[in-house]
Amino acid sequence: MEDAMDATSETSEDAFHAFEHAGWEAVPRRYDESFAALTVQSIEPLLGAAEVRDGMRVLDIATGPGYAAAAAARRGAGVVGLDFSAAMVVEARRQHPTLDFREGDAEELPFADDSFHAVVMNFGLLHLPRPERAVREAHRVLRPRGRFGFTVWAPPEQAIGFGLVLRAIQRHGDMSVPLPPGPPFFRFSDSGECMRVLQDAGFESPRVDLVPQVWRLRSPEALFEIMLHSTVRTAALLGAQTPDALDAVRRELRDASAACRNGDAIELAMPSVLASAMKG
Ligand SMILES: C[S@@+](CC[C@H](N)C(=O)[O-])C[C@H]1O[C@@H](n2cnc3c(N)ncnc32)[C@H](O)[C@@H]1O
Repeated sequence: MEDAMDATSETSEDAFHAFEHAGWEAVPRRYDESFAALTVQSIEPLLGAAEVRDGMRVLDIATGPGYAAAAAARRGAGVVGLDFSAAMVVEARRQHPTLDFREGDAEELPFADDSFHAVVMNFGLLHLPRPERAVREAHRVLRPRGRFGFTVWAPPEQAIGFGLVLRAIQRHGDMSVPLPPGPPFFRFSDSGECMRVLQDAGFESPRVDLVPQVWRLRSPEALFEIMLHSTVRTAALLGAQTPDALDAVRRELRDASAACRNGDAIELAMPSVLASAMKG
């Protein structure tokens, strides 16, 4: 994804934001059906890193269908889930009708300074045109000594589902098709980059861990179908390939997935990178 998805300029940030927004508005149910069982695997480590406990006020940014918000509520926290997609907020409210979900932007949080004991963002940062701004916002709304934690995908050599897709496009298609340019998809897969962005925002004692996750897919065709229909940037990259290239990518992903069969499921390693730090 690095070629087609890099090199953000000042003028392109709004276009990237609009591109991501339109994408997420279209996918809530499909995202829920395909990614929920995977991204929830990071939630307990994430809430642990943010030290979410009973009685705390917690913000879940880029909440999607509300998985982390619901898990924080189960720990006894008072939770707000925030997402910039109205359709995601509808899905989150449908799944968790008793929780508080709001529409809003990670880069401009609609909350006063020092409002939360803990802030989390599960697989949100890699979708933002200005991630530094979002990390500064998380810092602003946290109370002193409060903790912020976020997850992103591990690099494609480790997050095999992405690695297989990128390799197939490199072999059969074109990585340089025009897409709204955004920050590199795997920028925060690098622990040094996580540390730097946290420290630059004023956070203290950052740490970064790898969370092992396994994606269990029902069929060898599922990886291609999910990437094409339930993601935003990866779907756009696939959708911009020629029909012949796309067919070749589909075949390669089917064969590569079939080689990862374990019993009645296809199992792909999809670890996440978990970064966290404290507001001093
Ligand atoms: C990969 S999903 C993650 C959803 C959920 N947190 C999970 O664990 O599966 C990314 C979410 O980020 C949201 N998002 C992307 N950009 C955002 C922004 N600028 N502000 C708020 N939410 C945003 C999307 O609407 C989407 O729901």
